[in-house]
Amino acid sequence: MKKRESWKSKFGIIMAVAGSAVGLGNFLRFPVQAAQNGGGAFMIPYFISLLLLGIPLMWIEWTVGRFGGGFGHGTAPGVFHSMWQKNRFIKYFGVIGIFGPLVIFIYYNYIASWTLAYAVFSAVGKYGQVADQNTMLSLLRGFQGIEKNQFFSSMQSAYIFFLITFAINIVIIYKGISGGIEKLCKLALPTLLIFGGIIAIRVLTLGAPDPSRPAWNILNGLGFLWNPDFSALKSAKVWLAAAGQIFFTLSVGIGVILTYASYLKKTDDVALSGLTAASTNEFAEIILGSSIVIPAAYVFFGPNQIQNIASSGAFNLGFVTMPLIFQKIALSAFFGCLWFGLLFLAGITSSVSLAQPSIAFLEDEFNISKKKAVIVFGIVSFILCQPAIFFLKHGVVNELDFWGGTFCLVLFATVETVLFGWIFGIEKAWEEMHHGAEMKIPGIYKFIIKYITPLFLFCILGFWFYQEGIPIIMMEGISPADKPYVLGIRLMLLAMILILAIMVRIAWRKRSRNKK
Ligand code: PFF
Repeated sequence: MKKRESWKSKFGIIMAVAGSAVGLGNFLRFPVQAAQNGGGAFMIPYFISLLLLGIPLMWIEWTVGRFGGGFGHGTAPGVFHSMWQKNRFIKYFGVIGIFGPLVIFIYYNYIASWTLAYAVFSAVGKYGQVADQNTMLSLLRGFQGIEKNQFFSSMQSAYIFFLITFAINIVIIYKGISGGIEKLCKLALPTLLIFGGIIAIRVLTLGAPDPSRPAWNILNGLGFLWNPDFSALKSAKVWLAAAGQIFFTLSVGIGVILTYASYLKKTDDVALSGLTAASTNEFAEIILGSSIVIPAAYVFFGPNQIQNIASSGAFNLGFVTMPLIFQKIALSAFFGCLWFGLLFLAGITSSVSLAQPSIAFLEDEFNISKKKAVIVFGIVSFILCQPAIFFLKHGVVNELDFWGGTFCLVLFATVETVLFGWIFGIEKAWEEMHHGAEMKIPGIYKFIIKYITPLFLFCILGFWFYQEGIPIIMMEGISPADKPYVLGIRLMLLAMILILAIMVRIAWRKRSRNKK
């Protein structure tokens, strides 16, 4: 068996997993989800999902990843096959663990590049004169190429920032697990937490800016998020949104952490490390993520406006509202740079993790060098990124986010959990989780992992399919002009899955031939 790479230190892998988890999801997606789902109504399902889905899945992925790594496999097809060797089909389910991250990568990376652009715009004062929401929104739309206006007449600058961000990703993954990803995350994660802390303190010390509206203050802004609303527990929509956010923010249920954990040694701890990485993410989300965008927007725009802004587009809170707010406080360029710098670091430490499953798949299953794997990945993913850039206005990013960032997560998590608790067997699974463990996982989690997590996942899958899945599959609500683009993307995704499945077949054929 070829010698695989490994992490240099325990701190390094924890930072890498936390780096994957802490991302644009914590600072942009979370506040938007919370605002769209009524603030305080969102947090109870959120915490329940964290305890019953997020944390168990974190442990499961660390454990199965380390297990599969012991057989020389760093991606789900091989890992699943090692767990259920008698079954010939399970490896094909594992394809989602490469496909899903790749799909997220192709739009996530582009969004990360906007944050780099906006960090530069903050420094040079590009939006310095803009004073209202509509004009700030046209700046964003001009930049994204959705409209031509006084700020941007082409997508040239967006494309340049995309190229820079893409190149940074490629260099880091080329430098490898310990030389690239681990080094980056050890530096970037603490830095971004410090940036986040500074901005959060600034926001939390804002006075009410408008004397005629004293209720628009920080305490009420925090209350918007934290005053619980128990009636929302009856809403399936809020549960789906909360569970979806837990998956996305922790990077679980998609194969990324599984790949990272495959570079662990057999005796490395997974229990405490997994929990530490999850806690770091929750600190960034609950403490930092919730203290910035929502309270700030509440103070300047009031409770009704927050929901309007949030529902008018996923990025408006981060790229429209925040720059406007920074302009209303002292040292605006500094805070603008800090905010977008924070987002960029958060984005890049996540996007490299999304690339790694593809790289590991090529290296492990086709026995090719890192250099070749990175070249193949670079060319293919570069081409795949283009529709997200050029057809943004036709809803392509939403479509990719739906399949990669929502559907695949729930599906993959369900397969993985059933495989772990039922096929591999909970007794063996529990023992494997505690191999080299530096903490004892509370016994109740044996029950949760076997019964509650899968049940919860099946409920989500069922509800979701019924409530959202069918309308989405039927393209309800998509304008006729956008339908060809959405259809095109679906065909592209289908082709990607098929090609990956064929690659799995070829790899396994080759291996069984070599054995004979
Ligand atoms: N967790 C990342 C975020 O919160 O932005 C996004 C992400 C990264 C999702 C890696 C899934 C993943 F596999």
